[in-house]
Amino acid sequence: MQKKFYVSTPIYYINGKPSIGHAYTTIIADVLARYHRMLGERVLFLTGTDENSQKNVEAAAAVGKAGDIQGYLDEMAAIWERTWDSLGLTHDRFIRTTEPAHRSAVGTFWKAVEANGDIYQGAYEGLYCKGCEAFYSEADLVEGKCPLHKTAPETIKEKNYFFRLTKYRDVLLEHIGKHPEFIRPESRRNEVLSYVRDFMTDISITRSSMKWGIPVPGDESQRIYVWFDALINYLTGAGYPDANDWWPCDLHLVGKDIIKFHCALWPAMLLSAGLPLPASVFAHGFFTVNGDKMSKSLGNVIDPVDIANQYDNDTLRFFLIREIMLGGDGDFSEARLKERYNGELANELGNLVQRVLSMTEKYFDGRIPERAEGFLAGAWPAYRLAMDEVRLNDALDVVWSLVRQANQYVESQAPWKLAKLGEDKMLADTMYVLLETLRHIAWMLLPFMPLTSKRILQSLNLTVADEFSQSAESAWVWGELTPGGTIKKGEALFPRKE
Ligand code: MSP
Repeated sequence: MQKKFYVSTPIYYINGKPSIGHAYTTIIADVLARYHRMLGERVLFLTGTDENSQKNVEAAAAVGKAGDIQGYLDEMAAIWERTWDSLGLTHDRFIRTTEPAHRSAVGTFWKAVEANGDIYQGAYEGLYCKGCEAFYSEADLVEGKCPLHKTAPETIKEKNYFFRLTKYRDVLLEHIGKHPEFIRPESRRNEVLSYVRDFMTDISITRSSMKWGIPVPGDESQRIYVWFDALINYLTGAGYPDANDWWPCDLHLVGKDIIKFHCALWPAMLLSAGLPLPASVFAHGFFTVNGDKMSKSLGNVIDPVDIANQYDNDTLRFFLIREIMLGGDGDFSEARLKERYNGELANELGNLVQRVLSMTEKYFDGRIPERAEGFLAGAWPAYRLAMDEVRLNDALDVVWSLVRQANQYVESQAPWKLAKLGEDKMLADTMYVLLETLRHIAWMLLPFMPLTSKRILQSLNLTVADEFSQSAESAWVWGELTPGGTIKKGEALFPRKE
């Protein structure tokens, strides 16, 4: 049976435009989705927007749309969707939490949790940060302020419904302990374990003071807490409550800021509703811009579309993944981007492709010579393992070491000398090895740099579809490039930027 792969991104708040941080998560999900499609798997790549948050409501009011919140959300959601489209992302479903399908799924889910005895009424008093949409204890605050938003939380006092989160403490600890792949990377697992063991309490899952959001089934005076509603998007996006085989999700991709919601609250909710848990949550780090935290107040929020317009979509993807170690924190700087573009893309990859094609034109009239043995050994297994373990940096390393090996091979073989000396067989072997290596590089680049990959394959006179319904593995065998075929040298892939 065809394997399935279901990957999700967080659903984003749309009180502003997408930043390069949001693009980072979504691009990683796209790389993985393309990789699994390339393996011949059935893929569901879900992303979307978190629309029932109080901050979206305030953002609507700030632009004079307090009377038409849904209209404001429609405009903003369209901006987000257009952004992902313009970056060439291949999400299969864009979910919005104001969709009727989601509202109804949340109602069904709520009733399942309630039927299990996990919802009770109580009075709540606590410190609430609107930026995080979360309650804090005094101990969480830094000088009385939210550590992330640097604003003082407000005191909220109301009658709410609570979720019996603590009932699931032991099951969660056991599950996390038994399944190391459930929370990755490992450093995050310890953070979650300590929270679940020592700090987790039952949480309030409704607001009586809120007018926006999904009403509690049977009590219209209360709205469901935005996180309780938002997490359920992963089920709605997979067709819940209808039976289907997408759930459980294979990989929730999130930033490290929202790990507790995904690794404690969400699995507890699923256990309560009697549903299986996702296989894995992977948390990437946060990045700064030129060393500073990216924030609206600092005015240094980078628009991913600006970068893509200045360079191209593939360069943006390449840079984000190459520059920032997945799982760790990193920094985004345009100087580094330009350096990598001119170095790794223009000088290394672009130059390799250009010179191999030029020499094939020059010495063989653009025809592919007879087969010869190359130096690919071990590259595919290393690449596959890295991709399967979500070590995207390592997978790109495999590709770049091939690019470098190929460039060194050009230098050491010096085809121009072989041509002068009349070493025809050695010249032919050298060119075949280089052309065939280019083909493998193109395939490995497909999930990361789909346009570049396609251009390289086209220059080898090979065609490739955007989506693969069939496994491409047969194409990864050495020697698949057919002798006698003609190559087509095109424009330089990455013209240098001064
Ligand atoms: N709406 C919630 C998520 C609900 S999921 C059921 C939310 N939204 S958010 O708009 O604030 O997006 C947070 C996510 O954006 C982070 O988890 C991360 O994936 C991404 N990032 C936003 N800024 C980022 C950086 N500066 N660096 C890396 N990723 C960042 O939280």
